[in-house]
Amino acid sequence: MLTTNFLDFDFSNPFMNASGVHCMTTNELDELAASNAGAYIMKSATPAKREGNPEPRYFDVPLGSINSMGLPNLGFDYYLEYALKQQEKTSRPVFFSVAGMSVAENIAMLKKIEASDFKGVTELNLSCPNVPGKPQVAYDFELTYETLAQVFDFFTKPLGVKLPPYFDMAHFDQMAAILNKYPLSYVNAINSIGNGLYIDTDSDQVVIKPKEGFGGIGGEYVKPTALANVRAFYTRLKPEIKIIGTGGILTGQDAYEHLLCGATMLQVGTQLQKEGPAIFDRLQKELMAIMEEKGYKTIAEFRGKLKAIV
Ligand code: SIN
Repeated sequence: MLTTNFLDFDFSNPFMNASGVHCMTTNELDELAASNAGAYIMKSATPAKREGNPEPRYFDVPLGSINSMGLPNLGFDYYLEYALKQQEKTSRPVFFSVAGMSVAENIAMLKKIEASDFKGVTELNLSCPNVPGKPQVAYDFELTYETLAQVFDFFTKPLGVKLPPYFDMAHFDQMAAILNKYPLSYVNAINSIGNGLYIDTDSDQVVIKPKEGFGGIGGEYVKPTALANVRAFYTRLKPEIKIIGTGGILTGQDAYEHLLCGATMLQVGTQLQKEGPAIFDRLQKELMAIMEEKGYKTIAEFRGKLKAIV
């Protein structure tokens, strides 16, 4: 059984799309809503519609993907309207993602969500690596602290943050200490590994146009980093803060590993882009098969139970 309780909502399974993949238009969102994903999240919104970076800006490579989308989206109001319509039809909550270009933009969008009838979950994306001239917020620890202080002055609905990957034990400690100060509902680890470079040696050229080819890396390349971030935050955050595991989930085995590290929900990006929403059926079958082989009836029996070597 894959049923998952997350923030007091019950989902049929832990699988979701990662924000940015298959979730920009109402058509794509409707396809996710009709799929076997346990839940789905919308494209990160900015206050107004945004074209994003010049194309080509997404490229599949054998072990994953590189992208520099630059937050193209149809604007905050478009997603709020969609979410409000959806919640009339079903009790399954929608996940809203906001990614303002400044603290003020994030606060303005979150104030609108707070004042609206939106009953779902909100994710504050502090980790987009692809907007020229805008560093990833959550690599600036002071700014993260200040942003969350302003947010929790007024925001009372369930809120998570999407984090970039960290690579240093001291950074896990420092970021967890900041997050533990706030009534956060969850942490989503990880966004793509920012500013990688993929090269096509037939043409001796980069494969995406923005930022001279530098872009966020996803897929198989990122799984060990994603697992480490899930584990590091699971073991450092207060238990009320749940974890969404994102990064390198291509198979039920990858999903199992994220759950073992402590994730409650699981997001799929690169492989959803490659396979489409039918992937959610395959992932569930593969995860169920692993659980059966190991004798687990529920995810709760093994979540977080990664063993150290003693
Ligand atoms: C993008 O739109 O550039 C990707 C979104 C993200 O990495 O947060």
